[in-house]
Amino acid sequence: MMSQGTKSILTRHLELDAFYTGDFSVRGPHPIAETPMPISDEETMKPTAAATETYATLDEIAAVVRQCQKCRLGATRTHAVPGQGHPKARLVFIGEGPGADEDAQGLAFVGRAGKLLTDMITAMGLTRDDVFIGNIVKCRPPENRDPKPDEIQACSPYLKRQLELLAPQVIVALGAHAARTLLATDEPIGKLRGQFIEYRFSPTCPPAKLMPTYHPAYLLRSYTLENRRRVWDDMQKVMKELGLTPPKKKA
Ligand code: SF4
Ligand code: URA
Repeated sequence: MMSQGTKSILTRHLELDAFYTGDFSVRGPHPIAETPMPISDEETMKPTAAATETYATLDEIAAVVRQCQKCRLGATRTHAVPGQGHPKARLVFIGEGPGADEDAQGLAFVGRAGKLLTDMITAMGLTRDDVFIGNIVKCRPPENRDPKPDEIQACSPYLKRQLELLAPQVIVALGAHAARTLLATDEPIGKLRGQFIEYRFSPTCPPAKLMPTYHPAYLLRSYTLENRRRVWDDMQKVMKELGLTPPKKKA
């Protein structure tokens, strides 16, 4: 006979296994918005980023990013990584910046951390094509160092405009850099994660809900049950917000 305690631990293990194998059924509305939210008009745009904010499409931004030399990271990259996914995604994931695999391919989250992110997305009943995946800085910092504040500042207008054009319902900020940059705060990620915070694209758009959570690369380094549980709890809140049916309990 299995005790209640053992059974609940087993259930949690199975749930988490399913999380990382994507073995969940998700019902409910398809995660893609039929009608995009309005794009902010020119009067609401900040004068400092006027040039960036006139880009009309994600493809246009991507083309400019691929040629960009606005900060020192432009000189050392192999490929810029504008970000990719559905142009009307209701759910957007934002990381810190490209690593070696991303720099080689010009695509966001295609290395080891990317594999874990893909597993998370699959576990939510979605595919990478349903969502948009991007980064705070679009070029790889040498030796995978943290992006510097002036690099983040130089690159941020691209992300801001991408988010305005996407106008997603939920943004998942992966890790401290993404969360702190988007929320303009110095709070540690451990304090920020787990609760929705309003993210305003512009005064004329309804705000998105931003969920800070741990970066998949951090999760790979500290692959504890507790950390996996925390990220999965965060993703369940995101699913609820998007009207996606929570996964069926196993066992
Ligand atoms: Fe331009 Fe951003 Fe690349 Fe810097 S990191 S060169 S601002 S695209
Ligand atoms: N880590 C990130 O923050 N972004 C990527 O695209 C890949 C790894």
